[in-house]
Amino acid sequence: MITIKSKREIEAMDRSGDLLASVHVKLRDFIKPGITTAAVDKYVQSLIESAGGSAPQIGYEGYKYATCTSVNEEICHGFPTEYVLKKGDLVKVDFCVELEGAMSDSCWSYIVGGEGTEEVEKLYEVTKKAMYLGIEQAKVGNRIGDIGHAIQTYAEGLGYGVVREFVGHGIGPTIHEEPAIPHYGQPGKGARLKEGMLITIEPMINVGDWPSKMTANGWTAVTADGSLSCQFEHTLAITKEGPRILTLQPDHVEELKAYDIPIPSTEK
Ligand code: MF3
Ligand code: CO
Repeated sequence: MITIKSKREIEAMDRSGDLLASVHVKLRDFIKPGITTAAVDKYVQSLIESAGGSAPQIGYEGYKYATCTSVNEEICHGFPTEYVLKKGDLVKVDFCVELEGAMSDSCWSYIVGGEGTEEVEKLYEVTKKAMYLGIEQAKVGNRIGDIGHAIQTYAEGLGYGVVREFVGHGIGPTIHEEPAIPHYGQPGKGARLKEGMLITIEPMINVGDWPSKMTANGWTAVTADGSLSCQFEHTLAITKEGPRILTLQPDHVEELKAYDIPIPSTEK
């Protein structure tokens, strides 16, 4: 069942999303060569908890960590480990925040040390733009297929692969709710988007082909061809004014101007 959230629920999810976004902003300085992914995980958990929230991925279907930290060819659900990040690695840090019962979910990619090969830097930009092009389609009256179609035509048009096995989702009160939001699809197909729906858009884009393979831990997916994979994810509300990003990092307002995505007012 696809639920419609009240204004009050959306405001609570927005506060949860603000906390989540503030953690990503702090990760920009924390993630550097020499840091382990386990340290990233502990840092995220401590920031969430010290702000009065909790990390609902811990215990979710048996998952054990606050974050998923997926490096290079890992697509998603990477376990935080003693792996030491090195300059040029691409690490995806994906986590949810629960604050006063309200859920939010956002993944951001980081190029360790601030710069990488041309391949990594291009993949990073293409994946971020793919996410924004998908978000742009998340408006009342459009259909779920419009979101995936925008992402797929853009990324595949540049020769990248769009992961099929993992998709965006409805969110709140639990992490994963209906509907599924594929990052590929046909325009005009699928359920219609209505005011008050809360969804995530979280494209995983590969330098190579789209198929993934599961690793021995039963959680972490990697690209089947070993190519690099990147991901960005936001939680957003479908509103009459357009898609409202609840996990927006404040200084990203500038990059929204290139898209038909409402710019949030600065007063909260
Ligand atoms: N944040 C992830 C998502 O985007 C949730 C992963 S489920 C977990 O959907 F169990 F791995 F945490
Ligand atoms: Co998600």
